[in-house]
Amino acid sequence: MKFFIDTADIEEIRDLASTGLVDGVTTNPSLIAKSGRNFLEVVAEICEVVDGPVSAECVALDFETMLKEGRKLSKIADNIAVKVPLTEAGLKTCKALSDDGIMVNVTLCFSAAQALLAAKAGATFISPFVGRLDDIGQDGMDLIADVVTIYENYDFATEVLVASIRHPVHVVQAAKMGAGVATLPPKVLRQLFGHPLTDKGLDGFMKDWAATGQSIL
Ligand code: G3P
Repeated sequence: MKFFIDTADIEEIRDLASTGLVDGVTTNPSLIAKSGRNFLEVVAEICEVVDGPVSAECVALDFETMLKEGRKLSKIADNIAVKVPLTEAGLKTCKALSDDGIMVNVTLCFSAAQALLAAKAGATFISPFVGRLDDIGQDGMDLIADVVTIYENYDFATEVLVASIRHPVHVVQAAKMGAGVATLPPKVLRQLFGHPLTDKGLDGFMKDWAATGQSIL
C-alpha cells in the first residue's frame, strides 16, 4: 500500500519524507488556503521534495477552463497528478488529460457508481472520501470495499486512493481491503507509529540498560 500525505505544508512534507515512508502528496484548495502560500509555487516546491505523484487541483467548474488549468498544472513537474472533481465536466477533463498521458486524480467521490465512471474516464486515481461519509452516518469503508471489488472485476488500472482519512483504523481497514493508496493527514501518519506497549517496553529496556552501566559506542 502506498502512503501519500494530505497537506500543502512544506515543512511537514520535508519532515515526513525523511522517514522514507511517503510515496506522494495530495493537496486541495482548502489545504492550499491553510498553507497561506502561492498555489503554483508551493506545488512546485512539493514536487522537488517528493518523487511520487503530487496532486494539484483544478478550480474551474466548466470543461474548457478546467482543461486549460489541468494542462498548466501538469507542466509544473513530471510527477503532477491533476485533480478534478467528480462532475461531468471533471470526467470529460479527466478523459482528455489521460489521453494526453497526464496523471489524473478524480476527487470528491462518494459512490461506487461515480468510481465506475472515473475508471472508464481513464483516471489514474479515484479518491473516495471515507471520513466525510462517516460524518453523515454512512460507513465510508463500505464504499472502499465496493470500489475495490468493481475495479478488480473489470481489471481497471485506476488506483483506489482512500481520502478523508481520520484515524489509523481507516488505514488498516483500507489495507485489508487491498486499496492501493491511502492519503494521510500528517497527524494520522504519526499516529501509525505509536503503541502504548511499545513506549512501556522501551521504558523498561532503557531502565535496565542504564543499570548495566554499559554503552554501545
Ligand atoms: O484531500 C482530500 C481529502 O483527503 C480531504 O479530507 O478531512 O477534508 O475530509 P477531509
